[in-house]
Amino acid sequence: MFRVIDRKPDISDDADPHAPEQQLKHQQHTVPNAKAAAAAAAAGKEVQLYTVEHKATTLDGDGKVPAGRKQKQQKAAARDLQPQVPPGPVLGEIQLQHVDFAYPSRPEILIFRDFSLHVPAGKTVALVGSSGSGKSTVVQLIERFYDPQAGAVLLDGRDLRTLPLRWLRNQVGLVSQEPTLFATTIYENIAIGLPGCSGEEVEAAARAANAHGFVSNLPLGYQTQVGERGVQLSGGQKQRIAIARAILKGPKVMLLDEATSALDTRSEALVQAALDRLVVGRTTVVVAHRLSTVQGADAIAVVQGGVVAQLGTHKELLRDETGGWGGGRGGEGRGGVVGG
Ligand SMILES: Nc1ncnc2c1ncn2[C@@H]1O[C@H](COP(=O)(O)OP(=O)(O)OP(=O)(O)O)[C@@H](O)[C@H]1O
Ligand SMILES: [Mg+2]
Repeated sequence: MFRVIDRKPDISDDADPHAPEQQLKHQQHTVPNAKAAAAAAAAGKEVQLYTVEHKATTLDGDGKVPAGRKQKQQKAAARDLQPQVPPGPVLGEIQLQHVDFAYPSRPEILIFRDFSLHVPAGKTVALVGSSGSGKSTVVQLIERFYDPQAGAVLLDGRDLRTLPLRWLRNQVGLVSQEPTLFATTIYENIAIGLPGCSGEEVEAAARAANAHGFVSNLPLGYQTQVGERGVQLSGGQKQRIAIARAILKGPKVMLLDEATSALDTRSEALVQAALDRLVVGRTTVVVAHRLSTVQGADAIAVVQGGVVAQLGTHKELLRDETGGWGGGRGGEGRGGVVGG
């Protein structure tokens, strides 16, 4: 059902996030389309359901549209541009183009100023930089939790603002340091990645995520409840369940925000092996602080001072003595962890 939501800080539905009252006016034609689009997208069909509405125009005696009305019409046309599911398969190319960004709660503090980043389809780009430099903010902009004040974030060359939000979120998977698990069974927590999937698919995903072993050792196995009324899982176990979910979802774009940072060495090796399998063939943005994660990346972007201060392979950055990477200006110990 169509929902009117409190949209800050998250942008949480399919239409223009800046015009909630307009969505109400247009719900009659957007709701069936959104539902149909989701169903068709889930079935892998090409859909083009959202349309631009053109309003009828009454001309003045001299054949001109009165200025005031013209303005109103232009505004209406902009509002009526409904996000469209792009035709054809998603490739997964991500671009941030000349992005200026400040969080809505702190509009005076610009986190990014003319920030640009290109992640080619199927490639892995690692983001490194000091704490607070904006690495997680990049991840949040790609998920479209926020929109930039200037510039644009693009998927396959399309501005995210022109794509239905729910559809976009289906193309993007996120594994973060604190994965969200729901107060239900482990099975359901994994299966939510692919509604309608089979038990075999859930188990295969759990195996690929290195989760099957610990899950089968629980007395109730996959039927174990997690959260308050069930077992308390460790950080690494939660992460592996989140990874199993992401494997089932099979998104074109994977965002890994310090997905292994809180783990001990053994859990990290298990989670890292699962992540390595997960990112094959997907566009991946990984916020990393460990050499092992970063070495395999196609490129490493050093985020500093609101821009990408350096971009190169691990080797190239280590060679550059002046940089924030090899030069140890990565900040707050991060550079040390990566370099050492
Ligand atoms: N929701 C928010 N509202 C306002 N400011 C925020 C918000 N989230 C982050 N910031 C600020 O934006 C800046 C960038 O934060 P971000 O979380 O992207 O950094 P980071 O590079 O991921 O840091 P870390 O390595 O510590 O995770 C910081 O100054 C932070 O205080
Ligand atoms: Mg962060």
